[in-house]
Amino acid sequence: MSKEMDRRDFIGLAFGGVAAIGGIASLGAMKQTWDPLPSVVSAGFTTVDVSDIKDGEMRTVEWRGKPVFVLKKSADMPTCDKRDVVAESGRYTVVIGICTHLGCIPSWNGGEKLFKCACHGGEFDPCAKNTFGPPPRPMDIPPFSITGNKMVLGEEGPEYKKLSTEA
Ligand code: FES
Repeated sequence: MSKEMDRRDFIGLAFGGVAAIGGIASLGAMKQTWDPLPSVVSAGFTTVDVSDIKDGEMRTVEWRGKPVFVLKKSADMPTCDKRDVVAESGRYTVVIGICTHLGCIPSWNGGEKLFKCACHGGEFDPCAKNTFGPPPRPMDIPPFSITGNKMVLGEEGPEYKKLSTEA
């Protein structure tokens, strides 16, 4: 093997290493955007302090590998007694962030106050009820319990049972 070959191999290896580190770094960055609330994940449960969220703000947390949207209702948003999660700090929409049409992840449009699905134009209101396009039903509410401002996703509290039977 020539010296030149050795050098190229070394550069190739070094670049591969940098690319791998870059990949890990961007996964870390994704995780930060994906899970911006101080939440604790353990054995299928995700614990979130919802008092951290401002009026009208939407955050995404991860629960069992799925995105869960947590939107704090502002005064100009409709309330939905059969869907809102009521904490000490206010009312929240808490739903699995997966479009009920074909499973894309909608995004929150704060200006229009709508969840919009880019795949086929589906729209959901601030209660995550389908209002336009092909989605056949509202986004699903994940099992949760709430004590004060501490919400545990994955735990079926009495508030969840009430919502899920009435919704
Ligand atoms: S997957 Fe959302 S509108 Fe089709």
